[in-house]
Amino acid sequence: MTDAQELFEIDAAFRGPCIGVFDSGVGGLSILRALRERLPDASMLYVGDVACAPYGDRPGEFVVERSSRLVAWLIAQGATMIVVACNTATVLAIEALRARWPTIVFVGVEPGVKPAAARSRTRRIAVMATVATAGSARLRHLVARYAGDAHVHVQACPGLADAIERGVLDGAALVEALAPYCEAVRAERVDTVVLGCTHYPFVEPTIRELLGPDITVVDTASAIAERTASLWDGTEPVFDATPHVRVVSTGASDTMARLLPRCPGLEQTPVEVLTIIPCQLPG
Ligand code: DGL
Repeated sequence: MTDAQELFEIDAAFRGPCIGVFDSGVGGLSILRALRERLPDASMLYVGDVACAPYGDRPGEFVVERSSRLVAWLIAQGATMIVVACNTATVLAIEALRARWPTIVFVGVEPGVKPAAARSRTRRIAVMATVATAGSARLRHLVARYAGDAHVHVQACPGLADAIERGVLDGAALVEALAPYCEAVRAERVDTVVLGCTHYPFVEPTIRELLGPDITVVDTASAIAERTASLWDGTEPVFDATPHVRVVSTGASDTMARLLPRCPGLEQTPVEVLTIIPCQLPG
């Protein structure tokens, strides 16, 4: 018996191929909305691991274990391609996922160091990211490869994805959560800032306000959607010709229900809470 059979019932709605998308919680919806825009005819299944979010402060093995369980479930539902809509899961888990499912195509999300370096006039850029992404060898390699001649300030933002997950999306509480990080970034006199966590685009207006008008903010959602489309094009639905999008959460989330109406193409999508992937948080 495979992991997938052991753990999950196959959902009748997804007998044709679909794109599976996952994140630690609500952040990956910023990728899902770009995917919907670019691939309106593809079926997609999103799962946000709300019960275990955030991933950014957790041990690597925990993120690998959770990502594997989510991917097993997505594949059991009919996903033939997986978008890891989480920078943290990409840096910590994508190699393990590729090794375990060699026939599945995985698209990862990485901080947009390359476009930022290409855009920067002053050759001074910053990356805002979770603690795990900020400290990762993968980010160091990206910087060395694409921005070796630039000053790159990596700003870890502990607590920020968690605040967004808890619904801090605007107002004084958000400014309080963001201000120290934006001040640190401004002090580095950069002209371009990369959003290195898929949660951050949901608070981008406040990030822009705090950074000021002279700093360009770079998000990679549309580039990820383009990459996914180039790999997906030509995939034909086998049984079910109607494109279908499902959004699933592993725990109750008001924030997910608040954010979906802000995602064009997903406004009417209900959130299904799925408790069949139990979460044991590390002690
Ligand atoms: N949205 C995720 C990312 O892109 C994860 C944030 C978190 O769970 O800490 O890194």
